[in-house]
Amino acid sequence: MNSESFSVETRAVHAGRADLTALGVHVPPIDLSSTYPLPDVEAGGAAYDHLSGGYDREEGQTAVYQRLWSPGVARFEEALAELEGGEAGVAFASGMAALSAVLLACVGAGTPHVVAVRPLYGGSDHILATGLLGTRVTWTTADGIASAVEPDTGLVVVETPANPTLDLLDLREVVAAAGSVPVLVDNTFATPVLQRPLEHGATLVLHSVTKFLAGHGDVLAGAVVTDAGWARRIRPVRAITGAILHPLSAYLAHRGLQTLAVRVRAQQDSAQVVARWLSEHDAVEQVFYPGLEGADPRGLVGTQMAGPGAVLSFDLGSYERAAAVATGCRLITHAVSLGGVDTLVQHPAALTHRVVADEAKPGQGILRLSVGLESPQDLIADLGQALRA
Ligand SMILES: Cc1ncc(COP(=O)(O)O)c(C=O)c1O
Repeated sequence: MNSESFSVETRAVHAGRADLTALGVHVPPIDLSSTYPLPDVEAGGAAYDHLSGGYDREEGQTAVYQRLWSPGVARFEEALAELEGGEAGVAFASGMAALSAVLLACVGAGTPHVVAVRPLYGGSDHILATGLLGTRVTWTTADGIASAVEPDTGLVVVETPANPTLDLLDLREVVAAAGSVPVLVDNTFATPVLQRPLEHGATLVLHSVTKFLAGHGDVLAGAVVTDAGWARRIRPVRAITGAILHPLSAYLAHRGLQTLAVRVRAQQDSAQVVARWLSEHDAVEQVFYPGLEGADPRGLVGTQMAGPGAVLSFDLGSYERAAAVATGCRLITHAVSLGGVDTLVQHPAALTHRVVADEAKPGQGILRLSVGLESPQDLIADLGQALRA
């Protein structure tokens, strides 16, 4: 059967599992081998060259060493690539490791200049702002992308919806403005259930798999979905820097994909209820959520995105009030991260975006809320008591 005709729900359940019946198992086998037997020195050396050169392992070929290739990781990559509609996935030990590999590939190709639109996740902002990996960044707005491109620009980096204020960008406009420069879209907040950037012309999709894709707060992982050429460029960086995903985490992330669509939709439904309630609360100055009336003037929700997602932010006007509400929640956990089955609240300026330059830091009164699978009424009750206190 042609899996392209299936819905995202069906593909999420079955992707990366086509060979299981033939293997006589119902769930993917977990292979924790750090090294693999070599048939002989010549074949081992040839496999080493092949895999460290960024190519897929061939049928019957030794995998040589886990840092080069691991079967459970490859399964997860295949599944995620199918969901995003890309030729290849490359999975990493974290979202930051994934971004680092792309940046190092740009540096290696002699195109170290990056054009980036803020806001981005604080860690992504930091790695670009510091130039730690040898890149040079020009910060701009969506309108300024075309004029920010220079002869050695290797990448345009955007995030939509953006962390933490849920700003939306029109990806077709971004891609057109970038011209021949590849566009990387951080799709962590939307997931392929709500948005597939490759369909809008992006070249690379980045995920902190740690969030919605794995979904249960027990995995640290990252991934890039892209074309075969880019995959061949970033796999050697992953092999050299040792940033491959661990096979146990790959298993858990792959399992997480099976329930991704139903989790994202249910969490999004609750987020809409909570966002509306917050927007009517006297103590809340502003709610940032693309699902609220007037929050998406370009009409991107319903066209580029299938829905507004399950993350929102709200402004309480001052650091003191925001800090008090974050620590006053009882059911909701005060913790960084997002996209899991349980609701988390955190103060971006103090935590996830702590390392961002002052001029680009989120406001001190803003809290970010990742809405989980609890009843929205229970979440509202908890937020209500925290806001009263
Ligand atoms: C949008 C976004 N991108 C990337 C990252 C980095 O991912 P990781 O924490 O898995 O390294 C995060 C982490 O919070 C994020 O929120």
